[in-house]
Parts: sequence; structure tokens; C-alpha cells
Amino acid sequence: MNETNNNEPDIREVLRSVAGSMVGAVTVACIIAGHRTGLYRAMDGRGALSADEVAASAGTNPRLTREWLDQQASAGLAVYEASSDTYRLPSAVATALADPASPFWMAGGLVGTQALYLDLDQGIEALRGDGAVGWGEHHHYFFEGTEELFRPAYDHLLIQHWMPALSCGVDRLNAGIAVADIGCGNGASTVRMARAFPDSSFTGFDFHAPSVEAARANAAELGLENVSFEVASADGYSGPFDLICFFDCLHDMGDPVGAAAHARSQLAADGHLMLVEPFAKDSREDNHGFMAALRYGMSLFGCVPCSLAQEGAAGLGNQAGEAGMRTIFETSGFSTFTRIAETPNNIVYEAIP
Ligand SMILES: C[S@@+](CC[C@H](N)C(=O)[O-])C[C@H]1O[C@@H](n2cnc3c(N)ncnc32)[C@H](O)[C@@H]1O
Repeated sequence: MNETNNNEPDIREVLRSVAGSMVGAVTVACIIAGHRTGLYRAMDGRGALSADEVAASAGTNPRLTREWLDQQASAGLAVYEASSDTYRLPSAVATALADPASPFWMAGGLVGTQALYLDLDQGIEALRGDGAVGWGEHHHYFFEGTEELFRPAYDHLLIQHWMPALSCGVDRLNAGIAVADIGCGNGASTVRMARAFPDSSFTGFDFHAPSVEAARANAAELGLENVSFEVASADGYSGPFDLICFFDCLHDMGDPVGAAAHARSQLAADGHLMLVEPFAKDSREDNHGFMAALRYGMSLFGCVPCSLAQEGAAGLGNQAGEAGMRTIFETSGFSTFTRIAETPNNIVYEAIP
């Protein structure tokens, strides 16, 4: 937001910014509706279609489909051609909203945003009270959205770029080692590693039983036999493991130092730890900006309340950055802590005992 010389925002800028947020919030609802009803899939690759053709293909109400299409055209997500009274889905939009296999897939992750609204009353109560909301207290869209938000990175980066960046490389994974995935959620990372390295064995641990059930179902669907899942907290599993991974979860924990120390105690003598965390800079003022507004909001309603609901209640938040993570791993006794990869969304670290 531009600011006037005395550092006070101008009222027109404030109104434009708040209205932009309202447009965004409503557009998210329309995107989720298009994703769930199959409207994007009905338009993908089919060129210019009339509103009735889109509705017939998706099996949706023709009058409401016309309104949805006009919203999408107004939001820049569909192209309206007045001369033929038709709508077209640009291929870049289809990549983000119609294709779950795309590296740029976003529609699935937006379902988690719906959960923020469904859960808003309990979030507000937490803001007024002790700040705690257990992970399991969220609407199930929160878990579905979390899996879908991170899955494109696990599909396109984890095996191809992040694991080869470990100082030990992937030779040992190809030969066969024991790997633990802590805070595994629905197991999206665990099953992809297990599929890529069939001679290694993988165990996913999470303290949220419904996520462990979903992870088992994901593994069964792929017919994987080298992966299993257990309900266990980050300080309640037993090794030894050659590689222990934390994907986007350490900051959610009540006692991240304790979780890192437990991992160190369960690593084999020549073991390695891989940590994936949301992208963040080291200082508050460097963080503030467009994407951080999204991450701090998720942290407010998801990550920090989850941590505050646990013993330790560290409340680290998802914007601790490399400095915050390095402190945790130095305090818990690791001898090296190195940033080995980064994307606009994540930083990947390796820690060695
Ligand atoms: C943001 S989700 C990430 C899930 C998964 N790693 C992924 O990348 O899709 C955080 C996960 O950490 C788990 N979690 C939080 N605190 C935990 C703890 N103390 N012990 C075990 N799991 C924990 C939650 O249940 C949740 O599944």
C-alpha cells in the first residue's frame, strides 16, 4: 500500500486494499465452487464455449453457471468474447485450476482457505483466550487443503531436487535405508518417497489419528509395501532411522527443540535430518509483504494455535526463518545445519548430529 509523506495511508489506498481483499475472498469461494463442480475441467482445452455448453458439460445449473462465468471473466480467470457470447479458459488458468498433476496446481490448496472461514469462530475465541486450537479441532477441509497445498512440491521437487541436495545424496536411499517422516499428515511426502525408493523402508508418524488413517489409505491406493504409518507424537517414536524428515510441521509443534532433540537421539550414528519449512526471511520487517500476508494469516489460525495447544507451547509460527530454525537445531545438539535448497514457497535444510 502506498503511503503519504507522513507515513499515514491515504483513505483511497485503504479502501482499494480492503476492497481487493474482499474481491479475493469472494473469488476464492468461486474458484472452490468451480473446482468442486468440475467447471474448470469442463472448459479445459475446449476453446470458446457458450454458458449453456459449459453448464451441460459440467452438469451444473445453467443460470448460475452464467453468473459464475461472468465472475471468472471479471476476475481475469476466463476470457469472454462478446461477438459470439462465449467463454474460454486460458491455458495458464487451466494449469493452476483444472490440472491436479500440474506443478502450479492451486485449486486443491484453496480448500484449506475455506476451512479458515468455517473455523473462524474458534479462531476468534482463541484470539480472545489462550490462543490454543488443537490440530484435530479443524474442519476436515483443513487437512484436505493442507495435503493439496503441499502435494505439488512433493510431486515435482522432493524426489527430483530436494533429496538429491542432501550431502549424503540418494545412493543410500537407492541401496535401502530406514526413513522416518515426522508430522506426516496425510502422508503425501511419505508415499512419494516410498514409491521413488522401493528398497528403503518408510514410516510416517503423526499425532493426529485421522491423518494417519488418510495416509494409510493413500499408501494402499498406490499398492506400496515399504511404507507404514503410526499415531505418535514427535517425541514418542523409536528408531534408529538413517534419515528423519520434517515436512512443514516443526513450527506447528509445541516443543520444536524437544522434537529436534528426540530426532537426534533416534538417528543412526551416520544419520541425516531433512527439514522443510515455509519460506521466510530472518527479520520481521524483511518478511512483511504480499506472500507473508498469506503465511502470517495461516500461522495465526493454524500453526501457532496448534503449537499453543501442546505441551511446550512454543508458538514459533511459520515465519521463523533460517535464524529461528538454526537456533532450534543448535540448541538440540546438532553439529551442522545447512540450507540446501529453496523455492519461493519453501526452504529445505539438512542437519547432521
Ligand atoms: C502443516 S501439517 C503438514 C503435514 C505433512 N507433513 C505435509 O507436509 O503434508 C503439520 C502436521 O504436523 C502434525 N503435528 C503437529 N504437532 C505434532 C506433534 N507434536 N507430534 C506429531 N505430529 C504433530 C499435525 O498433526 C499435522 O499433520
